[in-house]
Amino acid sequence: MELNELSTPVLWADIDVFEKNLATMSAAWPGTSLRPHVKAHKATRIAARQAEIGHTAFTCATPREVVGLAEAGLGSDILLANETVDPSRLKAMAAIDGTATVAVDSEATIDAAVAAGISAVLIDLRVGFRCGCAVEEAGPLADRARVGGLDVRGVMGYEGHAMGNLDKAERVRLAEGAMERLTRAHADVGGDIVSGGGTGTWDINTTVNELQAGSYILMDTAYTAQQQPFEQGLFVQGTVISVAPKYAVCDVGLKALGMDHGNPSMVQGEVRGCSDEHTVFVPHDGASVGDRVTLTPAHIDPTMAQHSTLVMVQGHNVVDTWPIDLRGW
Ligand SMILES: Cc1ncc(COP(=O)(O)O)c(C=O)c1O
Repeated sequence: MELNELSTPVLWADIDVFEKNLATMSAAWPGTSLRPHVKAHKATRIAARQAEIGHTAFTCATPREVVGLAEAGLGSDILLANETVDPSRLKAMAAIDGTATVAVDSEATIDAAVAAGISAVLIDLRVGFRCGCAVEEAGPLADRARVGGLDVRGVMGYEGHAMGNLDKAERVRLAEGAMERLTRAHADVGGDIVSGGGTGTWDINTTVNELQAGSYILMDTAYTAQQQPFEQGLFVQGTVISVAPKYAVCDVGLKALGMDHGNPSMVQGEVRGCSDEHTVFVPHDGASVGDRVTLTPAHIDPTMAQHSTLVMVQGHNVVDTWPIDLRGW
């Protein structure tokens, strides 16, 4: 079957780009030095392919991702790189066969992990972005976790504020500042793991011993602006449903796209705006009702989360359909 025969909007990936991106990252961060973040794709079939080439330890953002990976037989070493105090979700992660390690950044998150029977944690550092503890809190929190019987495997810190910066020198400066804090905390915490980093810092973060990159597998317009060696391979195919004198409208709206990083880009025209079920665009070369159009989402993670399947395409042909089965919380 050809991609153009499928009903739209349809989320699809170029399987050759996917394989090339996997290989490029794997050459730089082989085996378990890469702990791929599954939040970028939420698909066990993609995780299985990552495991097949040696990346058998995973990073997750939600308990659902942790439990779903384990159910798919990919549970040997999963990190929830996020905080939770939800007893039932912590218990579900404690019950999986393998190691579910959770991030903790407070006494409350440690106590909740102990109470639920979690066996291992990383101390999460606030390195300039979102969750995490201060450097001086890290050692005492590690002590409390050990007293509670937890295996403190090390530290993590995600330098998200550096990640999207288009200026490489500024990206380096922000990442180095963040990693300096992580290194100081690691000295107080101990453990083997220093985890962090992502697609925006894969080539500049020399501190972590495991990289948590996720978006590199299929990329998006936001990351591609950084001139990375990874290519965009994720698209939403739509159909032109109405044509006006100066613009056209297709059937892909913001309910089929992650919009937090802005509008998608489009091969056949310039996007003017998206609403629930429509994108208005100015065609480069005219448009007719029924034409197929290709949109490239600005942000991969929330785009994947809005679809239940990912169609894998080679050339124009559909080669497989993979479930996006790690959605939800
Ligand atoms: C904790 C954590 N680690 C790593 C990443 C890196 O992901 P990506 O490679 O998609 O930038 C993220 C992205 O938000 C994250 O939240």
